[in-house]
Amino acid sequence: MQKHQGAGAVKGSAPELSDMADTVSILQATFGTAPEVAVVLGSGWAGAARRVQDARQVTYAELPAFPSTSIEGHVSALTVGRIGAQRVAMLGGRKHTYENGDCASMAGALRSPKPWGAKVLLQTNAAASLRPNMPPGTLMLITDHINATQRSPLVGQPGNERFVDMSAAYDPELLAHTRQLAKTKQVALGEGTYLWALGPQFETPAEIRMFAAWGADAVGMSTVPETILARHAGLRVLSLSLMTNMAAGLSSEALTHSATLQQAQASGEFAAGFLADLIGSLAEVASLRPK
Ligand code: HPA
Repeated sequence: MQKHQGAGAVKGSAPELSDMADTVSILQATFGTAPEVAVVLGSGWAGAARRVQDARQVTYAELPAFPSTSIEGHVSALTVGRIGAQRVAMLGGRKHTYENGDCASMAGALRSPKPWGAKVLLQTNAAASLRPNMPPGTLMLITDHINATQRSPLVGQPGNERFVDMSAAYDPELLAHTRQLAKTKQVALGEGTYLWALGPQFETPAEIRMFAAWGADAVGMSTVPETILARHAGLRVLSLSLMTNMAAGLSSEALTHSATLQQAQASGEFAAGFLADLIGSLAEVASLRPK
């Protein structure tokens, strides 16, 4: 499929409206009706795409509103299929703000699912734990976030819709559903507040002490701008973090990207298994079914 970008569009920055419309048309023509659930696969979560049944794929390069991504361990493709009775679209690969300074890089990728017909954005990421009771390998349900960067992908957006209510950004009904599933599956699921640090450098121990005092339970370099974009677009948001390391100063281990990737891979099957169970279980959520 040939990519044709709107005039003047820079791949990776906020999309042109025509790119959005073209993307939605391609998604509709390729996959038909939208799945209710779109998933962003973060570091360590890529294995979940292999659990999609009747899977079909398009690369981001074929979708004009989607960014090109560069990060190791991310495959830039959209996989559409089902897990059990739940249809799903999995976005393998997200562009991070630290790649080019643009926190709206994912705007087109996250806005397209809504006009296509999706209802939920389920995000996954890798993060550092600030809590001894959430050691590396633990999953954490994000109940709230702290935008420590104070950057917004909505800067420059017109209209009153830009004043997005973030007081229940992580959907209360979907949080309750996920807690119940963890209980049923006997998965130890932590929960807490995720703090977005811009990166790409890791934090200092002093920053981590400050973030802990602010109420952060985990720190990572993604998810918050995507949650803002998704809430602005009218998607319900649910997010899971995989703890890959204790945050700076909380363990004697040196922080390296390869060590976090290694831990993400070591826990990847467990994380992908829970994610697949969660997606499959969303078929039972009445509010996601067509009326
Ligand atoms: N800091 C920020 N983001 C991260 C970390 C970290 O220590 N580990 C995984 N993502």
